[in-house]
Amino acid sequence: MPDPDSRVALITGGNRGIGRGIAEGLVKAGYTVIVTARSARDAEAAAADLQAGKGNAVGRGLEVTDAGSVLALYRWVENNYDRCDVLVNNAGGYFDTNQQPSTPDFSVIQGAVDVNLIGPWRMAAAFVPLMRRHGYGRIVNMSSGAGQFVNPRATTPAYSVTKAALNMLTVRLGSELKGSGILVNACNPGWVRTDMGGPNAPRSVEEGADTAIWLATLPDDGPTAGYFADRKPVAW
Ligand SMILES: NC(=O)c1ccc[n+]([C@@H]2O[C@H](COP(=O)([O-])OP(=O)(O)OC[C@H]3O[C@@H](n4cnc5c(N)ncnc54)[C@H](OP(=O)(O)O)[C@@H]3O)[C@@H](O)[C@H]2O)c1
Repeated sequence: MPDPDSRVALITGGNRGIGRGIAEGLVKAGYTVIVTARSARDAEAAAADLQAGKGNAVGRGLEVTDAGSVLALYRWVENNYDRCDVLVNNAGGYFDTNQQPSTPDFSVIQGAVDVNLIGPWRMAAAFVPLMRRHGYGRIVNMSSGAGQFVNPRATTPAYSVTKAALNMLTVRLGSELKGSGILVNACNPGWVRTDMGGPNAPRSVEEGADTAIWLATLPDDGPTAGYFADRKPVAW
């Protein structure tokens, strides 16, 4: 069992891709990292790799679209650690390159809303009370350049609309929690070589994870309700 005295970080979709890179960075920074994936076995395998590198990590199954799964994870975290210092809402999907906004498949739109918006929202609602208990928290929402209003393309409508909505959730939640010790920010990792980004993306997982790790470890006087890329504020 990981060291219960170190800060506890929870990462959704931490078994592979950018989430895995964030998990590695936070383990190196001394956090106890709860790696989650839809399959508990995948999460446990990723955590075992991180443990082998002499870090504190544990794997748990989590389906962010399932309220029961989120509640079960919350209870487990509360029982085992009684704290959650960092929540990285990294899990995401439905990069719908084959759709146009005027001819949507609403089952895809609904899936994207469930994973990219309601999932992070549900996670934040579940874990903010535990953060409030200690007057400390860092919530990082993994957004995308596709969700920026300054990016006027017709592509990936489900993905883009839900990431833009996640940005607004970041503003609303961050504003509500100002002064509570809980900082809430969004980041754009750039185009990264993962299963989603594909092999031709210019950025490594390490580069894609860097700003999220920085936001997860902000000092108490750090920014909140902001949107960042490469550790700098960017337009919504
Ligand atoms: N790659 C890029 O270029 C890029 C660019 C901008 C933004 N992003 C964002 O960065 C984040 C990570 O992307 P990535 O490229 O690392 O993607 P990825 O390699 O496809 O990994 C996605 C992760 O999300 C998890 N996940 C998906 N749906 C889930 C659900 N319903 N419940 C729980 N976990 C779920 C997956 O877990 P399983 O293994 O269980 O499926 C996996 O760990 C996403 O939010 C993505 O939108 C990526």
